[in-house]
Amino acid sequence: MTLDIQIDIERCTAAAVGPEHGFSQADLDDIEPRVLAAHDILVHERRDKDYGFYDLYKDDAVFADVKSAADAFLQMRYDNLVILGIGGSALGATALVTALKHPYYNLTSRKARGGAPRIFVMDNIDPVTFRRMMRLCPPKKTLYNVISKSGETAETITQLLIVVDALEKAVGHDGMKDHVVVTTNPRGHKKSLLHPVADHYGLKEFAVPLNVGGRFSVFSPVAMFPAAMLKMDLDALRDGCKTMDLRCANPDIKGNPAYLRAAVQYIADTRKGKTMSVMMPYADSLRDLADWYRQLWAESLGKQFDLQGHRVCVGQTPIKSLGATDQHSQVQIYREGPNNKIFNIIEVARFEKTLKIPHSLAHIPQFEYLRGKSMNKLMDAELVATIDALKMSRRPVSRIVLPRVNAHTVAQLLYMLEVETAMAGRLYNVQTFDQPAVQVSKDIARALMSGDTARLKTLYNSQDC
Ligand code: PA5
Repeated sequence: MTLDIQIDIERCTAAAVGPEHGFSQADLDDIEPRVLAAHDILVHERRDKDYGFYDLYKDDAVFADVKSAADAFLQMRYDNLVILGIGGSALGATALVTALKHPYYNLTSRKARGGAPRIFVMDNIDPVTFRRMMRLCPPKKTLYNVISKSGETAETITQLLIVVDALEKAVGHDGMKDHVVVTTNPRGHKKSLLHPVADHYGLKEFAVPLNVGGRFSVFSPVAMFPAAMLKMDLDALRDGCKTMDLRCANPDIKGNPAYLRAAVQYIADTRKGKTMSVMMPYADSLRDLADWYRQLWAESLGKQFDLQGHRVCVGQTPIKSLGATDQHSQVQIYREGPNNKIFNIIEVARFEKTLKIPHSLAHIPQFEYLRGKSMNKLMDAELVATIDALKMSRRPVSRIVLPRVNAHTVAQLLYMLEVETAMAGRLYNVQTFDQPAVQVSKDIARALMSGDTARLKTLYNSQDC
């Protein structure tokens, strides 16, 4: 069985859902020259500009460093690994853990975890959650990985200040280097306020390359160090990236899954009124991958200005969903509400486990259609039922099929979605890698915290949205 992931956009065509909602060959032909031109730019710029995410998986030196640091820290047998970070600094690790680890990983024994620590990703600043985590994870038994590319995100710095205070009391200044790892921008280029923290305590430090945006950093130490600490198969992840990188080197839209998906979603949004894009995996393990993708698609494409400075206010709103759960929550509006969404359904051809439905409750004949089948078969049936029902309502569906969920296929999927986003950014003609609107709210929060009313006034006056 091939381990390559497959895509199928047949249910997004005019033939499947009608010309008002689906793309035609003419739509695709029309977009093809723009995809080709964008391909040249991506190929050219991946070497040195903003597209550094393409080559992260190739960096042997970084992966060797990640592995040897993780091996050394694993010797110390921490009970917990706590990630301090937010947004692109947190979502990649969460997506990988949910995809590749036991669904109740933290509740399993150390032996079942292969000696690896439990993991807690603190992707917020909710005081209740953070306090509870601090109680659950005594500092002496915990390794903290503080991750911030900029090194100045208020949420992450606040988390760090709390942790440092607790660690100073628990292990003292000299013990700090055994409990904190820093991941931030590289030395000598841009300042990070995490550099002086690392210097002060002599902490292990990883760099996020300058040409890799936070939400594109999953294959950098941002998620690879946590992955190594949890004993994930980094080689298989790298191999999955390579497999997809080769497929995405094809300039031909029909032979390049990322370009084809980007074009279909772009046409759906700009020509067919599908201003929302639903990502709906039919597997719990891919639930947080949909969350990761939601940030990638939203922050990269939701832009006020195009590359020439014209005010365009573009972008397709991503929605995360989960099959079959959300059939009982969202499918009503998906089928009968406004026809303004394209659906990305992720299928898993073969689950890791099969669960037979037993011949129980034999006295109730109405359950007979389930008895003797499997939960897997029911999940398949639910998926087919949903995509067929969506088609009957003329809703376009783009399918992604994973032969199985493992490090190799998940890496292919993540990598494809990154390339797809990069291509979509070129089609929308926007700056894919910045997030000025996020930056403004960061700045306002900072001015509010410091009581800087003059700065606040300037910030509020600078926005005309
Ligand atoms: O994608 C991005 O760049 C953002 O979502 C960042 O990851 C997020 O704002 C956190 O920033 P930082 O890593 O600088 O703390």
